[in-house]
Amino acid sequence: MGQGRRDEGTKGLRGETLRVCFVFGTRPEVIKCAPVIRCLAERDGFEVQTVLTAQHREMSDQVIDVFGVPVTVDLDLMRAGQTLSSLTAGLVERVTGALRELMPDCVMVQGDTTSCFVGALAGFYEGIPVGHLEAGLRTQDVRQPFPEEMNRRLVGSLASFHFAPTEGAKANLLQENVAADRIWVTGNTGIDALRIVSESATVASGSVLADVLAGCDGTVMTVTSHRRENQPFMSGIASAIYELIEAVPDLHVVFPVHLSPAVRDAVMPILHGVERCHLLEPLAYDQFVALMKRSDVILTDSGGIQEEAPYLGKPVLVMRRKTERPEAVDAGTVMLVGDDQATIFDRTLTLLHDGEMRERMGRAVNPYGDGYASDRVANVLMAELGTG
Ligand code: UD1
Ligand code: UDP
Repeated sequence: MGQGRRDEGTKGLRGETLRVCFVFGTRPEVIKCAPVIRCLAERDGFEVQTVLTAQHREMSDQVIDVFGVPVTVDLDLMRAGQTLSSLTAGLVERVTGALRELMPDCVMVQGDTTSCFVGALAGFYEGIPVGHLEAGLRTQDVRQPFPEEMNRRLVGSLASFHFAPTEGAKANLLQENVAADRIWVTGNTGIDALRIVSESATVASGSVLADVLAGCDGTVMTVTSHRRENQPFMSGIASAIYELIEAVPDLHVVFPVHLSPAVRDAVMPILHGVERCHLLEPLAYDQFVALMKRSDVILTDSGGIQEEAPYLGKPVLVMRRKTERPEAVDAGTVMLVGDDQATIFDRTLTLLHDGEMRERMGRAVNPYGDGYASDRVANVLMAELGTG
């Protein structure tokens, strides 16, 4: 048993305040944990703690500002161009140290990043039950996405509470012999974040984004790309975008470029200075949501954007060979276009030329929840940890 564990005799008594510690470090984790943190903080019986690994520095700070997420411990671990092993090694000791100090009753992690995996591992080592938000997503290919598919499987083995966004995710967990009574289908907490932000999300006047959109008189295509397994194809992705701008005279590409040097080094030489290609710094979450609302098409390899765009009724082309989010593909809103330059160009051009197809794909379907997943998570924690 870990040294930081609370005295078993006093843990989980009815009426006792339960400490729930969120460990997170990247932009998408903060976005998807923020509504759960807000929900628990509003309820009696919980003390929320947060350990920010800062695997992402600027990009997680941006979201922390938008949602006003409280940070209990900031490990400030990001290094430029960090490798998976150096990041993992640094995190194991530092997250463990933080948990020993904070002595939570439960550790919460989200998704599939290195911060998520190490948060779950450190919780497990310390003998603290781990709750996994967005559990059960699988492509069934450990190299795609890399290393996220493996991280999810590992967290699936380490966690005690599995919060699956969909029935399909639950089925994946059951296949891996996770006990049925440890899985709760809650919807994705990312939709909660979107529900909270989307209605009032407007482009800030006087911002760079406002200037860019004011000059976009035709079709707006938002682009994001960052996946590690796509790094060998990143120049090809940028070249496909260049060709699309040449082929479609009214096309404006708005591309907030991830801060990863692997992305910037590939994208900038090909797209910097290209007319109708607007390369931006990563946008604050509410600004990015406002941009998605204004977009006609979204071209991305992001996980979270595959969930958000259907909620907003936007067609999404996903630059991946496989997706762990098949629900929106089945619903017709998301289409896989692979990672090959020619195929990305062809399929995107087809969609840009076919207004009916865009309209059909953009019909709002939302397989990822009703925006109240956080309440369900909080109810489960109350019941399972003893305050319910
Ligand atoms: C990571 C996650 C991935 C997630 C993505 C979200 C892992 C293994 N990967 O991607 O699952 O989809 O984040 O965006 O956990 N950088 C900055 N400032 C920032 C953020 C990044 O400068 O705010 C630069 C740094 O040089 C950093 C590099 O980007 O070293 C890469 O960051 P990292 O978190 O390692 O990115 P990925 O693993 O590609
Ligand atoms: N996002 C953002 N600013 C941007 C681009 C994306 O806030 O400039 C948000 C987006 O709405 C989504 C999340 O970041 O909620 C997705 O993050 P990312 O694509 O980095 O990671 P993934 O979801 O692939 O893990």
